[in-house]
Amino acid sequence: MKILIATDKPFAAEAVTGIREVIDGAGMQVALLEKYTDKKQLLDAVRDANAIIIRSDIIDAEVLDAATQLKIVVRAGAGYDNVDLAAATAHNVVVMNTPGQNSNAVAELALGLMVYAVRNAYDGSSGSELQGKKLGIHAYGNVGRNVARIAKGFGMEIYAYDAFCPKEVIENDGVKAVSSAEELYASCQFISLHIPATAETKNSINAALLDKMPKGAVLVNTARKEVINEADLLKVLETRPDFKYVTDIMPDKDAEIKEKFAKRYFSTPKKMGAQTAEANNNAGVAAAKQIVDFLVNGNTKFQVNK
Ligand code: 3PG
Repeated sequence: MKILIATDKPFAAEAVTGIREVIDGAGMQVALLEKYTDKKQLLDAVRDANAIIIRSDIIDAEVLDAATQLKIVVRAGAGYDNVDLAAATAHNVVVMNTPGQNSNAVAELALGLMVYAVRNAYDGSSGSELQGKKLGIHAYGNVGRNVARIAKGFGMEIYAYDAFCPKEVIENDGVKAVSSAEELYASCQFISLHIPATAETKNSINAALLDKMPKGAVLVNTARKEVINEADLLKVLETRPDFKYVTDIMPDKDAEIKEKFAKRYFSTPKKMGAQTAEANNNAGVAAAKQIVDFLVNGNTKFQVNK
């Protein structure tokens, strides 16, 4: 059996070693394709792969057509909007993610971005503090939960909205559960986004929501760029001089936003929320174990295209 690690954005070296140990231990072979610059390299590499470990790499119908021996794709991470699930199902390919494995890393970055925003990009001027401020967590999954845990240490007052998570689960963590996104945005000066990119959520963070945020609003995005309505974001930045946007996913209109609102906008050059040795290791090794468990025992626990 051949297990391909196909990562445009490579794992830390120790994570690759950890993955190799799991795959070698199961008597299977590892192939490595990192930092590829052309889709053709991916199409060539998948030809004889029985399993693929990916990150945000795009697995579409063309890749699945080329991968004639493929049985399983594991997205080492949380969001799987980069995989065409319907095409995978049509090709009889199981798709899994590794929920929770990189969530602490993303949550730490979210808080880091908040500090960066309130300390004026570390420019030496007088800023403000997070302590005592209201933080709204939009979607209370693994990352949202970790954000709440860390934000408590900062002394923030924490709110959350999640259409799918029971109120009791949220309140059990000492977080105030609100019953709509509108209520969350109206209540909190800081909003941290943790919604996946789906047909329902794409473009959903719009001016109607953002305009509800109190004075000194800071929107933190470590989720996906697609959930933001960028035209509305620009409008809000234009009309509200108190509004800041800090993101780990560069918007399409990055250059324009940077030019117009340099002091109130920051984007990492490349998504790096999960880019830590620990997260790479946790998610990569979990992906390898899930592949072995599926190929050897048929375990489909983390399958997302059921
Ligand atoms: C995820 O969905 O797990 C995160 O966005 C991390 O993505 P990455 O593996 O591309 O860094």
